[in-house]
Amino acid sequence: MFKIIKAEFIAPGIKRFVLEAPRIARKQKPGQFVILRIYEEGERIPVTIESSDPARGTISIVVQSVGKTTQMLNSFNSGDCISDVVGPLGKPSEIEKFGTVVVVGGGVGTAMAYPSAVAFKKIGNRVISIVGARNKELIIFEQEMRAVSDELLITTDDGSYAKKGFVTDELRQLIESGRQIDLVLAVGPIVMMKAVAELTRKYNIHTVVSLNPIMIDGTGMCGGCRVLIDGKSQFACVDGPEFDAHKVNFEVLVQRNAMYREQEQRSLAEYQRSKAAPSSVNAEHEACAGAPGGTR
Ligand code: NAD
Ligand code: FES
Repeated sequence: MFKIIKAEFIAPGIKRFVLEAPRIARKQKPGQFVILRIYEEGERIPVTIESSDPARGTISIVVQSVGKTTQMLNSFNSGDCISDVVGPLGKPSEIEKFGTVVVVGGGVGTAMAYPSAVAFKKIGNRVISIVGARNKELIIFEQEMRAVSDELLITTDDGSYAKKGFVTDELRQLIESGRQIDLVLAVGPIVMMKAVAELTRKYNIHTVVSLNPIMIDGTGMCGGCRVLIDGKSQFACVDGPEFDAHKVNFEVLVQRNAMYREQEQRSLAEYQRSKAAPSSVNAEHEACAGAPGGTR
């Protein structure tokens, strides 16, 4: 059992959790993720670790309510427990002194890009961050990104805050201004990462994206997270999750992520219908409350 030390909504439908997980906290590096199972029969979901505090033995994650499991998790509060947290998984981000690094965070992906931005800055890179969301309310980690960036550019799709447009509009302007850019890291929805890749390919700017395929075991055994990189199959859980954006087949990623859409929608509808009624899931949630956490 892994105890939730703190849980707070940081935007509508987006919750930040601090979990007691001392072993993971000691080993975590930027770019790595955990696989959670919130109750024993629950599905496994991968979530990038936003930060860790080895001294306190905690890790932080940011979760957006999308399907049944993430909606259920976002109903959890401090004092509740999560059944399993496995990690840290995946290869850490390649953190080197590149020169000028542009970190692009789209929506909830900003929380996943943040630890890498911290590490790039710490090692002496000039960090320019571009953060985008659909509207003002959904901008997350603005203060955190500002603190680790030499420049922070913000966009909203509807223009309700900062510049109206997509993150790619700011990136294009930056590139066309003739500024030296040595690396772009983009984390966000697939359409955004694909758009970033298409843009930077034209200018031959090295670009890395963090992929989020469906994952099950997280050890390279099940094949669930297979992605096509430069025409070859790779497993995002062990070979990634970060890959050279110009080699990623985004069409295959979109297709594979949509494979269980019907089942996911059915499961979410069933969950929403049963939410009010007592169920084994609710019982599991209750049983968790107050249990001693952080034993792994
Ligand atoms: P969103 O749809 O609100 O988009 C966030 C920003 O991405 C937009 O504000 C815009 O600036 C940019 N964007 C979107 N579409 C674009 C396009 N066609 N061209 C250029 N830029 C575009 O994002 P959200 O709702 O916060 O994200 C949800 C998605 O992100 C989910 O599908 C989730 O699976 C995925 N996600 C990915 C990762 C990852 O590791 N890559 C992590 C968490 C979530
Ligand atoms: Fe099973 Fe990657 S999640 S191989």
